[in-house]
Amino acid sequence: MKTLNVGMVGYGLMGRAHSNAFRKVRNFFPGEIHPVLKAVCGRDEAKVKAFAETWGYESTETDWRALIARDDIDLIDIAAPNNVHGEIAMAAAKAGKIVMCEKPLAMNAGQGDAMVAAVEAAGVANMVWYNYRRVPAVTLAKQLIDRGDLGKIFHYRANFLQDWTISADVPQGGPGTWRLDASVAGSGVTGDLLAHCIDTAQWLNGGITSVTATTETFVKERTDSATGEKKEVKIDDASMFMGRFENGSLALFEATRYARGHKALYTLEINGEHASLKWDLHDLHRLQYFNHRDESVLRGWRSIHLSDSDQPYMDKWWIPGVQIGFEHTFVHQVADFLEGIATGKPAAPTFRDALKTDRVTDAVLASAASGQWTDVASV
Ligand SMILES: NC(=O)c1ccc[n+]([C@@H]2O[C@H](COP(=O)([O-])OP(=O)(O)OC[C@H]3O[C@@H](n4cnc5c(N)ncnc54)[C@H](O)[C@@H]3O)[C@@H](O)[C@H]2O)c1
Repeated sequence: MKTLNVGMVGYGLMGRAHSNAFRKVRNFFPGEIHPVLKAVCGRDEAKVKAFAETWGYESTETDWRALIARDDIDLIDIAAPNNVHGEIAMAAAKAGKIVMCEKPLAMNAGQGDAMVAAVEAAGVANMVWYNYRRVPAVTLAKQLIDRGDLGKIFHYRANFLQDWTISADVPQGGPGTWRLDASVAGSGVTGDLLAHCIDTAQWLNGGITSVTATTETFVKERTDSATGEKKEVKIDDASMFMGRFENGSLALFEATRYARGHKALYTLEINGEHASLKWDLHDLHRLQYFNHRDESVLRGWRSIHLSDSDQPYMDKWWIPGVQIGFEHTFVHQVADFLEGIATGKPAAPTFRDALKTDRVTDAVLASAASGQWTDVASV
């Protein structure tokens, strides 16, 4: 058994999801490398100490630079907002640390290029937390597509709908609302929600080559949570695009925080020559599948409940009929990443893989600004 000392940056939503995954992974997924929660870093000393106590971290830091400088840290895990991903990841790679980084990889693809160069020059293992790839139903969709069950794919449709910023009283900047401040988030729903849809789509269906997009900012001014002053809103509240995939199929994507009633409705649908697939985050343990090759009298949409041990990841959890949820996707991600380190076969998405998503989100924003079809730059 080998130990791997984790240094986590950030203790918010993803700090909890990642800590939970590092703690549980070896209870469920046997393996050679065992993560140790060595240190957590946050700027507020009292809060970071309380977090360390709750989650079992051995120590704390209040400056990520001090965390990276420590000899007893092997892996830096970045669970902080988007504007600090680049600086922390590049410094960590330079110091020879393994790097895991939350999505989106970077503020834009230009910064993403520098991050990819840094981890590759340092030769350190790296991964971006696009966790939806590791929902068992989504992994099963990948397996069905890869073995040709859908045949030629014609359409890929995805939505990510929320409703939490409809009120003009929601401020921009600060804890919980940094996503509304473009200087911290990079963009609005394009880099936040669409990025998830794009990562899954390019993994399942290959590269997106061109897009035509439109975005909208419904609330133009919001209070800056630091100064209390009204400030122009520079993020996109809603983002939609049509596009083309390399394999000839067509893309239709939408993300918004203005779909009243929807909290985190991520859905995808893929239509192929022989079969179609549908998946929905609110019912994440099911894959909907229609196979035109079924006997005609019985043909129809099947709702596959993923809980059996021959379905992806499920042999490691409970018993047939009993489902798992959101938190488990992070456990799967850590399990695959550690396995990749042990076997020398890097698990995806690496920084280079995740950069492909930043290239598409850059093209979406450029197209929305110009009103023109825009090619996605190749990685
Ligand atoms: N994979 C997913 O499903 C998913 C879901 C939510 C968020 N995210 C991504 O995770 C990242 C964090 O999002 P979140 O929802 O956890 O945010 P959050 O606001 O809940 O937490 C962010 C944490 O980062 C800390 N932080 C901010 N600046 C820092 C700095 N300079 N040094 C140290 N700590 C700093 C904050 O104090 C806080 O603890 C973002 O990049 C976001 O896009 C991914």
